[in-house]
Amino acid sequence: MPNCVARVLNSTPMDTATRYEYFSTQEARGHSNCYEDWAKGIASDNELLALIRTLPEERQQPNLILASARATGIGLEPYTKFRAEFLSKWDKIRAIAMVRRTQTNEVGRCATLLPIFCELQQPLALLEVGASAGLCLYPDQYNYQYNEDAPILSKTTGGPLLHCTTTGNVPLPAQVPEIVWRAGIDLNPLDVTNREDTDWLELLVWPDQHHRLERLNAAVNVVRANPPHLVRGDLLEQLEATAATSPSGANLVIFHSAVLNYLPVDARTEFRELVSGLPAHWISNEGEGVLVFPGQKVPPPRDPTTGSFVVARDGIPLAYSGPHGDRLDWF
Ligand SMILES: C[S@@+](CC[C@H](N)C(=O)[O-])C[C@H]1O[C@@H](n2cnc3c(N)ncnc32)[C@H](O)[C@@H]1O
Repeated sequence: MPNCVARVLNSTPMDTATRYEYFSTQEARGHSNCYEDWAKGIASDNELLALIRTLPEERQQPNLILASARATGIGLEPYTKFRAEFLSKWDKIRAIAMVRRTQTNEVGRCATLLPIFCELQQPLALLEVGASAGLCLYPDQYNYQYNEDAPILSKTTGGPLLHCTTTGNVPLPAQVPEIVWRAGIDLNPLDVTNREDTDWLELLVWPDQHHRLERLNAAVNVVRANPPHLVRGDLLEQLEATAATSPSGANLVIFHSAVLNYLPVDARTEFRELVSGLPAHWISNEGEGVLVFPGQKVPPPRDPTTGSFVVARDGIPLAYSGPHGDRLDWF
């Protein structure tokens, strides 16, 4: 890692208004005009904020609330119209937000994990914690294009094409990894063969993001033909036992992306200690500031105005990545 100005990864809880403002300006901006607009409106709308604050804190997330609102039929409308419908449909929105979770399964993230998977000794046994429907367990079944005009890396003809722009010395893979076993753990595994679950996965894709919807559907088609083994339960409770079921002769890789932000800070530390003690490689792709790696620092992001994830291998941060996998900036 270069010797540049370092920032220790850290995290701070946000109040509801700040959370919506942050989501609008740091996450949705540049990706979904509709969500940027809605979240910005909510951030300064005391009436809507008061309703959202009646939910348990973990149910107040913008992704969950806005997807729940769309599940009631609210279309892509300007904030004033959205607001009126939100108020009239609040009971339904609330009910959906209480049973559903933010389980966005973003296969684009496979593009930022692939270079690390490929550097490890093959074949691999993949165990994903916080797997949602398990779509990220199939990196060998998707197609990749790192940087415009580069050749497409592909093993099969089906599956989504994942685009990723890179900077720095990314160890770009020459072929997809060899995966002989895959399993996932989730509090609420989604089933790619169940229509209600796939409808919810679609609603979790932000409006205006047709390319994300297309790759989700392409991935669901691939995975539906051979659904993964998903264990229901808490990652802290299920990890050790599930890891023990991986086959000998394969290199066990435990990985996760966009998961640890749903855990209290103490539980993240507990997870880090647990996974570090297992006979496995550990790949982490989490929001900047979510996971602290003791003794490790990261350089400032290239563009501090957009949110980034940090990709780490065995507790060593290696790169920033786009939260949906569209970029990989190697340190
Ligand atoms: C935002 S989704 C990310 C899914 C997938 N990793 C991806 O990158 O596409 C987070 C997932 O973590 C799961 N999750 C959150 N806390 C968990 C816990 N304590 N144990 C197991 N799964 C958890 C949620 O149910 C959800 O499916």
